[in-house]
Amino acid sequence: MRIVVLAGGLSPERDVSLSSGSLVANALLDKGHSVVMADVYEGIEFPECREDLFILPSGSFRYHYDIPGTAPNLDKLIEKHGGRMTLIGKNILELCAMADVVFIALHGAMGENGQLQAVLECHDIRYTGSDYCGSLLAMDKDLSKKLMRLAGVPTADWVLVRPTEESLREVREVVGFPCVIKPTHCGSSVGVSIISAEEDFLSAVCLANDYESTVLAEKMIPGREFSVGILGGEVLPAIEIIPHQGFYDYTNKYQKGLATEVCPADLAPEQAESMARYAQITHDALRLGSYSRVDFILGADGVFYCLEANTLPGMTPTSLLPEEAAQVGLSYSDLCDRIVRMALK
Ligand SMILES: Nc1ncnc2c1ncn2[C@@H]1O[C@H](COP(=O)(O)OP(=O)(O)O)[C@@H](O)[C@H]1O
Ligand SMILES: [Mg+2]
Repeated sequence: MRIVVLAGGLSPERDVSLSSGSLVANALLDKGHSVVMADVYEGIEFPECREDLFILPSGSFRYHYDIPGTAPNLDKLIEKHGGRMTLIGKNILELCAMADVVFIALHGAMGENGQLQAVLECHDIRYTGSDYCGSLLAMDKDLSKKLMRLAGVPTADWVLVRPTEESLREVREVVGFPCVIKPTHCGSSVGVSIISAEEDFLSAVCLANDYESTVLAEKMIPGREFSVGILGGEVLPAIEIIPHQGFYDYTNKYQKGLATEVCPADLAPEQAESMARYAQITHDALRLGSYSRVDFILGADGVFYCLEANTLPGMTPTSLLPEEAAQVGLSYSDLCDRIVRMALK
């Protein structure tokens, strides 16, 4: 098959995406596909013969991208492109139209919130993962938590906040301290702070506001953290994430060796079943597509609180979903290939 892997984009998570995208592209080459990876924001120049863009599986070329330790500077990237704010770069849609399937390896922003999925659908271009509706619902933490509650999935109490004294009063009454301040539509823990004192409230909300205007404060649930993948209707074995220091923030997520992952997680069978059921209910309530990854914290009361569902989970071979898939005998390249094939159904 001919596959375009879309990565990068104008998102705080673009580096993570370029890393995932490179490895997905290599895996698809290994499976015998013709592949090209493109940065959806930066765009691509067409050579004289457009067909030459697709890398053939028989060659020795491999993509490579290392994630820097800090989040990318998007202003600099925009400046490099003359201040351009259109999210889809030169020739990207034309390139996608040449493919049998577009593998969306984006994280955050328009790749994850459904905008790109809607554009591709309007152009009759096939793509991997959830459609624009599921993407939008899962990306909005306020909306998705409301749907989880309606579906009977436990999720921590929360309120939308602004950097004001009035908002602080509401947080004190509804959520309490410590609490977690997070942007409503971000990922990779970008802009997330765990605060234990009221005096940290304003600075934490302002930090989250650097990324977007809608921010929520959520009751902090101290406890073990887990993630459950869903692939083609099957719930994968849960993985436990144990950061060596602090919580599962951007650095702990993407710098090697800073968190231990245990898969399958050490849980009693009834606990694993309970979390798997909540993961499936959440996946369905948010109308998600062929795959997703749903995250939980096990509270001291024995309840699994759902943090969020990810429609575009990390996809390096050592990311959580690929590790869970490995437990059921699916290699990384098989997983990428399966995700592509599910897009054709
Ligand atoms: N309510 C909470 N209680 C405890 N830890 C939390 C809570 N919410 C978030 N965290 C921590 O912050 C991380 C990122 O939060 P999450 O809601 O998953 O946002 P993101 O979409 O950025 O991944 C989680 O993986 C977890 O370690
Ligand atoms: Mg998360």
